[in-house]
Amino acid sequence: MKVPTYHLLGFFLFFFFYHRRAWAHYKFVVKEVPCTRLCSTKNILTVNGQFPGPTLYVHKGDTIIVDVYNRGKYNFTIHWHGVTQPRNPWTDGPEYITQCPIQPGAKFRQKIILTTEEGTLWWHAHSDWTRATVYGAMIIYPKWGTTYPFPKPDAEIPIILGDWWKQDIKEVLDELLLSGGEGNYSDAFTINGQPGDLYPCSKQDTFRLKVERGLTYLLRIINSAVQDMLFFAIADHNLTVVGSDASYLKPFKRSFIVISPGQTIDVLLEANQNPNHYYMAAKSYTVAAEGVFDNTTTTAIVEYSGNYTPSSPPLFPYLPYYNDTLASVNFTASLRSLADKEHPIDVPMEINTYLFYTLSMNTFPCPNNSCSGPNGTRLLASVNNISFVNPEIDILEAYYYCIPGVFGIRFPDFPPLFYNFTEEYYPLSYEIPTRGTEVKILDYNSTVELVFQGTSLLLGSDHPMHLHGFSFYVVGVGLGNFDNEKDPLTYNLVDPPLQNTIIVPVKGWLTIRFKANNPGVWYMHCHFDRHMVWGMDAVFIVKNGKSPEAKLPPPPNDMPPCYYKAVPITSKVANSLGPDICPIRMEIK
Ligand code: C2O
Ligand code: CU
Repeated sequence: MKVPTYHLLGFFLFFFFYHRRAWAHYKFVVKEVPCTRLCSTKNILTVNGQFPGPTLYVHKGDTIIVDVYNRGKYNFTIHWHGVTQPRNPWTDGPEYITQCPIQPGAKFRQKIILTTEEGTLWWHAHSDWTRATVYGAMIIYPKWGTTYPFPKPDAEIPIILGDWWKQDIKEVLDELLLSGGEGNYSDAFTINGQPGDLYPCSKQDTFRLKVERGLTYLLRIINSAVQDMLFFAIADHNLTVVGSDASYLKPFKRSFIVISPGQTIDVLLEANQNPNHYYMAAKSYTVAAEGVFDNTTTTAIVEYSGNYTPSSPPLFPYLPYYNDTLASVNFTASLRSLADKEHPIDVPMEINTYLFYTLSMNTFPCPNNSCSGPNGTRLLASVNNISFVNPEIDILEAYYYCIPGVFGIRFPDFPPLFYNFTEEYYPLSYEIPTRGTEVKILDYNSTVELVFQGTSLLLGSDHPMHLHGFSFYVVGVGLGNFDNEKDPLTYNLVDPPLQNTIIVPVKGWLTIRFKANNPGVWYMHCHFDRHMVWGMDAVFIVKNGKSPEAKLPPPPNDMPPCYYKAVPITSKVANSLGPDICPIRMEIK
């Protein structure tokens, strides 16, 4: 039988791409381009001039190489949010944690090692607030020859929720740090980079999703907003949640979802309604007072094909009231891992490291009470009352080369004082945090249970906590104070969701578990960038294990250099940490 040549061609193309895929190679040129939104134009930082940035299409288990060229004016780094990067903290990205920034004009080759992640993740800048415009989706398909644990959708669409400032984002951050106050709020939220019909000068560019009645669409929803958790819904359509943070979930239907900055949620949308135009919409979920947050609503349009007269304006979805904490907590509590034969879970059952971290909003004295925080103070945020300060040499290099004086190793396992954290009154000693760069050392393969406890300082806030280097199981969540005796009895150890970002509810608690099987330096922080720069950050150093596969390999040779004064190596840090912690000693000149 004669095989038509185009079949042969297809076969070769398949083969070519099959092999190419496994080592996909991308070029990211970081540069400013003018961009017009809300009736005004400003220069924004982008990757390859695109906003949102390019989508990475990969398969489970792939390794990707991205060459990052900084053609912008400022220091820059990039992070692959949710990729655990086994033994590869070197190209994880957070500035001053795992690398010094890529200087303007310089280049850094980053390796992204995918292992168990499957579904949707994303990438974003991780230097100051450049991520406001520098972000994109990462779509991780099942391994070749395998498929989704749900019927194959007819189409897949990234839905990236973001926010937009009319002001230059660097100015927004500079003003925030200078004033010590809350800074400015965003002027709009966006869907795939567009604010939508409800904002001035925006209607012509509103994102439109064309659908055909009877088909099913996989929406890969990402919240890339800098400051806001978001409620999201589509008029007259239920959303079937099937995954979050590149891990599958037991499907459940909701009329709306809540998604925190950093988080991804995959939903199936069945186009099963009358052909018409329907709005999808997102707005902030926050406990901030009216007037001190961006209370606008972004929209896009789900547009059925066919001949009909669409309602004008399109039908609008129900979204909960902006401060509906219960709606948010109930949503978080309904996430359950698939936990079936093909997708087994691996929750640590025997815990050897118990941690309890309070998350607080704080004030700090300001010279002459001249700041714009309460009573002239400066706003800060803290974990266990320590407000994190970025070092000048990244912690990973300081650790690897045993450079003393960069970080301390005394991050406390517990808060300085246990009190009624969620009551209105708090001990005075709690209001002002200690500022410092302290890390928590974890033994290789230790099994960690970490309870986050939100406090009511400055009325408190929800905190979308994100951990680099690991996904964690969310085994419990609740409002009020964590009860050491009762709450562990309610833990879900059967099918807890596997996340990399999760909302710790305002004046509430949340427990995660993970196994520290990834040697290196890993950042943990609130994914509200305001809280992050105020110090709601922590760093884990996971020590090397015994076998060669459990050790941190040396850095790539194009690590962006740190600019700092020569520090003589004394044995202070090295001695207290021991040889496992300092694989190599080197004089830094
Ligand atoms: Cu989305 Cu530290 O990152
Ligand atoms: Cu926070």
